[in-house]
Amino acid sequence: MSGCFTSWSNSPMTGADHGNDPLPPRVVEALRCSVCASPLKSVERTLRCSAGHSFDLARQGYVNLLHARIPAGTADTAPMVAARADFLASGACRPLADELARVCAEADGLVIDAGAGTGYYLAHVLESAPAALGLALDVSAVALRRAARAHPRLGAAVWNLWEPWPVGDEVASAVLNVFAPRNGPEFHRVLRPGGLLTVAAPAPDHLRELGDLVLSVDERKEERLDGTLGEYFARTGRTEVRRTTELSPRQIRQAVEMGPTAFHLDRGDRRSRLDALSEPQAVTVSFTVSTYRRL
Ligand SMILES: C[S@@+](CC[C@H](N)C(=O)[O-])C[C@H]1O[C@@H](n2cnc3c(N)ncnc32)[C@H](O)[C@@H]1O
Ligand SMILES: [Zn+2]
Repeated sequence: MSGCFTSWSNSPMTGADHGNDPLPPRVVEALRCSVCASPLKSVERTLRCSAGHSFDLARQGYVNLLHARIPAGTADTAPMVAARADFLASGACRPLADELARVCAEADGLVIDAGAGTGYYLAHVLESAPAALGLALDVSAVALRRAARAHPRLGAAVWNLWEPWPVGDEVASAVLNVFAPRNGPEFHRVLRPGGLLTVAAPAPDHLRELGDLVLSVDERKEERLDGTLGEYFARTGRTEVRRTTELSPRQIRQAVEMGPTAFHLDRGDRRSRLDALSEPQAVTVSFTVSTYRRL
């Protein structure tokens, strides 16, 4: 893909629609107690296992299954999430959302988005896969407040992806992983045999015109990705989603503030250079989408 794109309307995602249950019942069926791994049941405003462990459902519609502290700098913060939501709403990454929806269109069961953030990509996938439902996992409760409302067939749970996931074996038909931590053994365990894993990553030329305003992308990432997943998965495809687009100063700030660079903004002169931006700039937005089948 190449060329410039201007504005894309935000898709008409509505709020959650599963009766009085904040999470779709079929999503609850796939979840497990994060203390003892037993199945969970929805009881009033909690999820409970038979051993009596109980997890509150937040008013905003997600469940927090964490019971350990998370190191600072792991979860996306409120300003990062706000920047990401605004940047995505501008349509700047819509071609990637369309590509993910295309490759996942056959998904007919549970789609788990590992590191789902605001749920933008998972909601697009669910729109194109009418028989699917989604589970958004992320360690950022702030992000999941938005994810929980991103689509009627989506449920959201706060969890640290580096720990064994609070999800049953072979419950998912697809796993989605977009710029987020990759836990190969857990991808494999939760996917049913033959299930689809889709990984999106920034390409080396992503945002290259912004220079050191953004942290650089490791050029050998793809090679390493295949290496880490090779034990559990066979790669079935890889596409590039690449455009040059004009970003406003506001969009450029959001693109920087929503990513890992946000944790280093006050180092050097990044902040003052960002604040000084006044002109739109043509910027490369470039991703790779790799698909794998569970062996
Ligand atoms: C770059 S953002 C991508 C979010 C989303 N996939 C998107 O593209 O809009 C990375 C996400 O991974 C989450 N994350 C980082 N480390 C995590 C961990 N150990 N467990 C769960 N989520 C994590 C962050 O909170 C953040 O929402
Ligand atoms: Zn339990």
